[in-house]
Amino acid sequence: MDKMIIEGGIPLIGEVQVSGSKNAALPIIASSIMFDDAGNEIFNVPDLEDIKTIKKLLISLGAEIKESGETDKVIINTSNINNYEAPYDLVKTMRASVLVLGPLLAKYKRARVSLPGGCAIGARPIDFHLNALKLLGANIVVDHGYVEAFTEQLRGATINFPIPSVTGTENVVMAASLAEGTTVINNAAREPEIDDLILALNTGGADIKRIEPSVIVVNGVKKLNKLSHRVLPDRIEAGTFMVASAITRGDITIKDINIGHLKAVIDKLSEAGAKIVINSQSSLRIKGSKVIKSVDVATAPYPDFPTDMQAQMMALMTISSGLCVISENVFENRFMHVAELMRLGANVKVRNNFAIVKGVKRLSGAEVMATDLRASASLVLAGLASFDGYTAVSRIYHLDRGYEKMEKKLANLGAVISRVSEAESSNINEFAEKDINYGKGM
Ligand code: UD1
Repeated sequence: MDKMIIEGGIPLIGEVQVSGSKNAALPIIASSIMFDDAGNEIFNVPDLEDIKTIKKLLISLGAEIKESGETDKVIINTSNINNYEAPYDLVKTMRASVLVLGPLLAKYKRARVSLPGGCAIGARPIDFHLNALKLLGANIVVDHGYVEAFTEQLRGATINFPIPSVTGTENVVMAASLAEGTTVINNAAREPEIDDLILALNTGGADIKRIEPSVIVVNGVKKLNKLSHRVLPDRIEAGTFMVASAITRGDITIKDINIGHLKAVIDKLSEAGAKIVINSQSSLRIKGSKVIKSVDVATAPYPDFPTDMQAQMMALMTISSGLCVISENVFENRFMHVAELMRLGANVKVRNNFAIVKGVKRLSGAEVMATDLRASASLVLAGLASFDGYTAVSRIYHLDRGYEKMEKKLANLGAVISRVSEAESSNINEFAEKDINYGKGM
């Protein structure tokens, strides 16, 4: 298992390009199941472990996938699908594997998908997905840990989500696009990744409109032809680099982004004292300020502050000038990073879904362990702001699920960071003394 070794305290300076969005690419790749053309094209697909998992899943269903010479383009032919099962092995590595449920049901009228089980950030059931698909006419039983679903024909229905669910909305949008008649989704999630999926489906002949911020109308069509779509930029990766600038008191220009999708993060970081200049709709410059102000943060579904940025924002607040409260309102158990941040010297107390963060003057390097994707990003960020020795972040495979070439991008901004194997890093101080040139050769 690899570790990330970081020598902190260096302001990050320069330009960084953001990759395609993981959370948009996943449902779009899953949606290719429903398209008839043998050459569905998806551009700007990030090279990530989660993307490898969804490709593996599609291949196991019978799809053929080609990577083109351009590294971020994926070509998918799903015309030979002959298996309808998403096995436990894949679903447990990546919950988003449940995104094949809607497309398989819509196109092949059957699906067998493992229940994902709990994960590091909460129970995360999929009851909303299943209840909505039942309303569309699916027969669903849960047996031996698997969702067994079949239908003679899905039919349009009105779906009222109890609370907005991102992948729940996506599964229903996909299933409804090949259903007979019209589906209305009330209290649909508003995340931009859903609109990117809608755009992708509409390129192939689907008829889907968001008629109000939380209402999506899907007029079912008989078939979908060819998928050809460029995935939107990853707003969470962009936000993570914004915090990297703020936490190291750096000066970073972030390119290939969609400014409109970052409003809540821009507002919060500005409130915390960072100087943000919008260069264009796809680029901004963020300069960290010497004094990082304490700001309260409350996560909520889009367009509010994203839960996927909570851990990174907490890393920043650990070295802020005062006291703040971070409330996690989306997932019940998303504070696993707290104990690890405390190993770096942070002062955080958790009460239910609140974390009270009292800023400290400086963090100091230590060995820490990543517990989930965004928690690992927050530990890397905290490591970049730590002094007095190295920070070693283990279980870095979590980071590889959702950040493309993270250490290379950080090294290009001047970070002293390196990925090493467990054996190499058994004693980080000894490792440091070997005078290895961190950050080089990645
Ligand atoms: C997606 C994102 C994830 C992000 C999350 C919230 C992808 C692949 N993942 O996850 O990065 O953190 O949105 O923005 O896009 N819930 C239920 N029953 C359900 C579905 C959801 O109770 O059937 C609850 C969840 O436990 C959670 C809340 O609803 O408390 C929102 O979850 P949801 O939006 O569904 O998250 P995901 O789609 O799993």
